[in-house]
Amino acid sequence: MQLTVTKDMEAFHRALLTSAKEGRRLALVPTMGALHAGHLSLVEHARTLADTVAMTIFVNPKQFGPNEDFAKYPRALENDIKMAEKAGVEIIYAPDAEDIYPEGYSTSVSAGPLSTQLCGKFRPGHFDGVATVVSKLLLRAMPHVAVFGEKDYQQLCIIRRVVEDLDIAVDIVGAPIIREADGLAMSSRNTYLSAGERGVAPRLYDTLVNTGREIIMGNVTTKAAIADAIKLLTALGFKVDYLELRDSDTLEPMDGFEPPARLLAAVWLGKTRLIDNIPLE
Ligand code: PAF
Repeated sequence: MQLTVTKDMEAFHRALLTSAKEGRRLALVPTMGALHAGHLSLVEHARTLADTVAMTIFVNPKQFGPNEDFAKYPRALENDIKMAEKAGVEIIYAPDAEDIYPEGYSTSVSAGPLSTQLCGKFRPGHFDGVATVVSKLLLRAMPHVAVFGEKDYQQLCIIRRVVEDLDIAVDIVGAPIIREADGLAMSSRNTYLSAGERGVAPRLYDTLVNTGREIIMGNVTTKAAIADAIKLLTALGFKVDYLELRDSDTLEPMDGFEPPARLLAAVWLGKTRLIDNIPLE
């Protein structure tokens, strides 16, 4: 298929129809652009699951709080198009905000309690914004499968919940976190870090790994291991929003260790908020 790049919903639908008429299975990779190797790994994963890969590029205003970084969030559409095409994306849909949320728009999707804990506690309304836009994008594309990164692990769980609850007929697939050589999870927001902060940032992943090891070995209680980790991160200059052990499937809090579990954290380094998580199995 020839590459289609459009911000027009009808043109997007025409490209999807061409693919469908050829009997091709469709995978969707929703993004906010500013692509990096993490996004490309989602595309690579999507290509193993479908014949046509479509990508959406949309910086969704509804998932940013009033004091968050919507205005400064990196935007690099030209470069994103080149990277996506090279990775094998055949349809790129990059709508304007007025197209997704036209005048009079007033509906919101909420996944309930899953949305108000962990990151949701610190970013009120964020996950409703994510659930709303992802529902709209899935309904516009109706792909067979959609791929999301495990870096935003809570987001992935919420999207699974929403799709199941709203009977949206799509398989939601999570793809593993891609890390820099020093362990820092790739994120478009890493560009906000100063050189000094960038040097410290990988200590988040190190701390998760070491804490996970302590928890699995069971030499200390989960509570004590987490308290030590928060103390260490704070001493290193991070401000910890949370570091918690949760059930991998339900995100229920966990006192003792019972696999499959996830150790999840959100921290601030200066003005940059970083999130990361690891599986404990
Ligand atoms: O993970 C992201 O990039 C965004 O939250 C998503 C899923 C594209 C929704 O805007």
